[in-house]
Amino acid sequence: MTPGHLTFPDNFLWGTATSPTQVEGHVANEWTDYIAADGGHCRVACNHYHRYEEDVEWMAQLGVNAYRMGIEWSRLQAAPFAPLNQKELERYIHLLDCLKAANITPMVVLHHFSNPRWITSAGGWVNPATVPAFVDYTAKLVSALKERVHLWNTFNEPDTYASLTYLLGGFPPFHKWQLASYRKVIKHMAEAHIRASEAIRRAGHGGRSPEIGIAKNWTYFGALKKFALWDHLLARLSHHTFNRFVLTEFLGGRRREASTFLGVNYYGLARFKNLQPAVPAGGACPKQLGRMGVVCDDMFERHPDGLGVILRDFHRRYGLPLYITEHGAASSDESFRIRDLTEHLRELRNALNGGADVRGFFYWSLLDNFEWQFGYTKKFGLVSVDFNDEALPRRMTRVGEYYRGICRARAPGMASQNSHPAIS
Ligand code: FCB
Repeated sequence: MTPGHLTFPDNFLWGTATSPTQVEGHVANEWTDYIAADGGHCRVACNHYHRYEEDVEWMAQLGVNAYRMGIEWSRLQAAPFAPLNQKELERYIHLLDCLKAANITPMVVLHHFSNPRWITSAGGWVNPATVPAFVDYTAKLVSALKERVHLWNTFNEPDTYASLTYLLGGFPPFHKWQLASYRKVIKHMAEAHIRASEAIRRAGHGGRSPEIGIAKNWTYFGALKKFALWDHLLARLSHHTFNRFVLTEFLGGRRREASTFLGVNYYGLARFKNLQPAVPAGGACPKQLGRMGVVCDDMFERHPDGLGVILRDFHRRYGLPLYITEHGAASSDESFRIRDLTEHLRELRNALNGGADVRGFFYWSLLDNFEWQFGYTKKFGLVSVDFNDEALPRRMTRVGEYYRGICRARAPGMASQNSHPAIS
């Protein structure tokens, strides 16, 4: 290996990711009646529910060998402890079979910001009864899919979910400053993760031992001005509440044994100015931020170096294999997005060089999609979707072409060619 070049392991997963509420359409969960800031809703979204075969073809064109997909709980169980809905299960099985035929390994997410309505109406994740209901669902789903899936991701970003539902009022049920509820949600999810992990192991497997983990969103917090004491304090408090507390609940002490990997969703940095996060996702104007020297996409401040730092830190701290379960940038400036990807992959490569055991990278997202509170305004797709056209036409983006170059160069069996010039 020459300095500056890294041979990615042959079995490294180069993937992309979506979530059911954001792409499928035709869901009946707490998001169905939600109207986003742009007036959009998720009732059709990308219509991936009906068009998944075509979307797998887009993945094949991209050359990815992995796909992080969600399975929507509300489709599969009509009541607590009910048997799984066979028709909906068959649809997911068909999707998994299409992926297999395209040589794409699935990582299945069990909870991504949405719940069946019977969970929500009973108090959601604040209610301890949600834990056994989720474990029952997991056990049934895993025994149905264990021949086809070995990568299980129980919870996507418990910190984002619990904070937007109970602290910041952004997600249904829109509560604010209910710190006790926030903590309860995290504790219940952590307990559910541990019990779901036991259920997954108990279910046995169809060849490959299951891998089990969560996707932790990692945001760095800071202050925009050096001497803004309150902003610094708020940054420390945020770090403690959203990062440390959550990781301790899921991975502290013997709890770590429930996970065989740790997923990291990484978008960057949020710095406070006058106690407000100075990021576009918090309402700040990107142009104004630009004038202050803050480099951001349409959501967060970029901080590529931070990716290497956190990968090395997680590797040392937890000793678990890592996956970058989400990274991407939202912008209509594709050159910016390509630069952003290159910079983050360079950091990934350095972390691997330094010994961090990272097994895969999932670009967020396969498609432009329904970005929760922001609706359809944030363009994250490798493949764009025209939401102004009822036919929802897909189109390969330049970022997608660039990513295809990376995936193809690193495809198994092409190990000798797998140093991509763009990130060397
Ligand atoms: C992550 C979410 C994902 C998407 C991206 C932009 O926090 O997991 O659903 O919204 O951010």
